[in-house]
Amino acid sequence: MSQSVRDFYHLNNDSTSVVIDCRRNQPVLGYFGNRLVTVNASMLSQLDRHEAPASLPIEPAISLTPTIGEGFLGHLGLEVHRSATQWSLAPKLTEANTSQFNLELTSRCPVSDVEVTHQFTLDPTHSVLCLSVSVRNLSDQATLFIDNCAATLQLPDHLTELEEVTGRWANEFQNQRHAITRSAYVRENWTGRSSHHMNPTLTLFEKTTCASHGDALGVHLGWSGNHQIRVESLADGRQMLQAGELLRPGELELGPGEEYESPRLYLCHSSHGQNGLTRQWHQMIRREFISKQRPASTRRPVQLNTWEALYFGVDQPSVLALVDQAASLGIERFVLDDGWFLGRTDDRRALGDWVVDPKKFPNGLTPIIEACHEKGMEFGLWIEPEMVSQKSKLFETHPDWVLRHEGVPLNEARQQLVLDLSQPAVVSHLFDTISSLLSAHSIGYIKWDMNRDIHQAGNAEGRHAPHQQTRALYRLLNQVKKAYPEVSIETCASGGGRADLGILEYTSRVWPSDTNDALDRLRVQRGFQNLFPSELMGSHVGPSPCHITGRQHSMAFRAGVAFWGHMGVEADVRQLSDADRQVLSEAIALHKHHRELIHGGTYQVVDRPAGEQAWIVLAPDHSEALAALAMLETPSTPFPNRYRFIGLDADRYYELKLVWPGDLRPKQKNHKDELSDAHWSGDWLMSVGLSLPILQPESLLIYHLKAV
Ligand code: DGJ
Repeated sequence: MSQSVRDFYHLNNDSTSVVIDCRRNQPVLGYFGNRLVTVNASMLSQLDRHEAPASLPIEPAISLTPTIGEGFLGHLGLEVHRSATQWSLAPKLTEANTSQFNLELTSRCPVSDVEVTHQFTLDPTHSVLCLSVSVRNLSDQATLFIDNCAATLQLPDHLTELEEVTGRWANEFQNQRHAITRSAYVRENWTGRSSHHMNPTLTLFEKTTCASHGDALGVHLGWSGNHQIRVESLADGRQMLQAGELLRPGELELGPGEEYESPRLYLCHSSHGQNGLTRQWHQMIRREFISKQRPASTRRPVQLNTWEALYFGVDQPSVLALVDQAASLGIERFVLDDGWFLGRTDDRRALGDWVVDPKKFPNGLTPIIEACHEKGMEFGLWIEPEMVSQKSKLFETHPDWVLRHEGVPLNEARQQLVLDLSQPAVVSHLFDTISSLLSAHSIGYIKWDMNRDIHQAGNAEGRHAPHQQTRALYRLLNQVKKAYPEVSIETCASGGGRADLGILEYTSRVWPSDTNDALDRLRVQRGFQNLFPSELMGSHVGPSPCHITGRQHSMAFRAGVAFWGHMGVEADVRQLSDADRQVLSEAIALHKHHRELIHGGTYQVVDRPAGEQAWIVLAPDHSEALAALAMLETPSTPFPNRYRFIGLDADRYYELKLVWPGDLRPKQKNHKDELSDAHWSGDWLMSVGLSLPILQPESLLIYHLKAV
């Protein structure tokens, strides 16, 4: 039931408080952090600042969506107009709806004739707060244009550094940390997907925050299209953060009575550094995303993918030969990647013609699927539904189905065009096509790819349409999920170009990067796991030399890196030497043995000197753990520093085993023998640490700890 608006609201769970200040016309996120015992009106008045020289007597607050009508001089959070009139938006709070962890505040603006609703949802157990904004056109005649809608918050002034998630194709999820300077730091992503170089994640830190200590605020926008994230130091000394969709003029038009809903902005707080954030992100994602899907669609069978094995050269004999080999390695799901459909001999043609190519598979996919089933494997298939090649039957029949800019030649990337999902006929054709594939075959998993940025995003009505495109994609995915709830869908966009909490509502695996180079993967996986839990992370053992970097790595290193996610293989396993085949099967068996722990445990980074990486995955009750040490470069000292474990119970004893690699060099063998009979107290392992053997660059050790 709606109530009149109080001066402030205090949402809290056992560890966290959120204070929403409603004393002015618009809500302000006054505080989000460690739990406060109580909040009262006089404490709240502490949030106000005295009149600053040469400024307004009452400073315009950094409200949830600052508007021009509030007299706010920073970057606005909400801008609307009706063909350049009624733009001086100044909403006033009118109603509140609140329950234990939720608050919904409604405001109205008679000048612009709009209703704005701000929603706050605090996670019941973790320090994760979800914000969203909706805007309704109250006019019964006139259209409303929204030029900008970005959730905004004032940043606590002790958070002085930010870490962005950047990178490029085949090198995604690279973290870069720097100081917040006295100007605006702006990330604008126009690629039409969440992108390789500007994943919608940002983390704010205190200067001294490290892996396990210090305050941190994680920010993630759950949106797979164009987005903006902005950190701005205002001239008056306050700093603010804004995040929302990035819109072109005219892109968001609301007819009378229509409503816009912003993507969700997730905030995560921790006083225990990045590890504290990671713990909470993972638990929230497991509960709110993964466990809300049908369990069958979140299975994690070890898979073999044909891409780096056969590329476009897939056909019945070669695929059957791989199926055979895969099963003997312990593979549980066989995935037929690109190249299987009508006329797809290379990446210049055939996208859109989603029927099995009879030249390559004269008897269709059934013999392949049956062979998989006979070997105890399920079958998965690659598709790229949003795309079309100019050389395709689909394009010949429907040249008007693609996004384009009027009067400008069509702009191909990877020789393909983007279908205009704002046309209902296109979406219903795509659903029927996917549905025919899924109903005609026993398919447990689809890899949903999207291999280009959207450079020309004009739709059939001549509008700039990324917003509609993204929403239509979500509706299509939802329709597929509803019709085939047991099918697992992986999000892939030339690797990690679409990895965000928007798409994760409908998908249950992410392909973080096209690189299978184990060394590069270590950094990619580190960045990925800051936010996403390991079970979502596709991680494959690729060929050596790596097809993308040309670097060569031992099978032990490649498999030891792929071990930590949803493990797979993406290499021509027909060509493996006997020795590599043996090592790979051992790694797959080890992964299966520990899969529950890897995919359900608490992942934490262990601080190490430069040139090394270490991490640990702990069982929720700390009775078991897997810990890794990876040597990235030639070490500067003969022996690595002692390994100081984290997260164990200080007063318990643990059995410690070196479980990877299976085949050790002589000096490492001694180390393994030394560990064999000993029991180690948790406090020894955490405070004194374990002495380590000599390690070569580009190698990795995995330990297993079990409480006795
Ligand atoms: C890009 C993906 O990231 C690859 O894994 C592969 O599926 C290709 N597309 C196929 O075209």
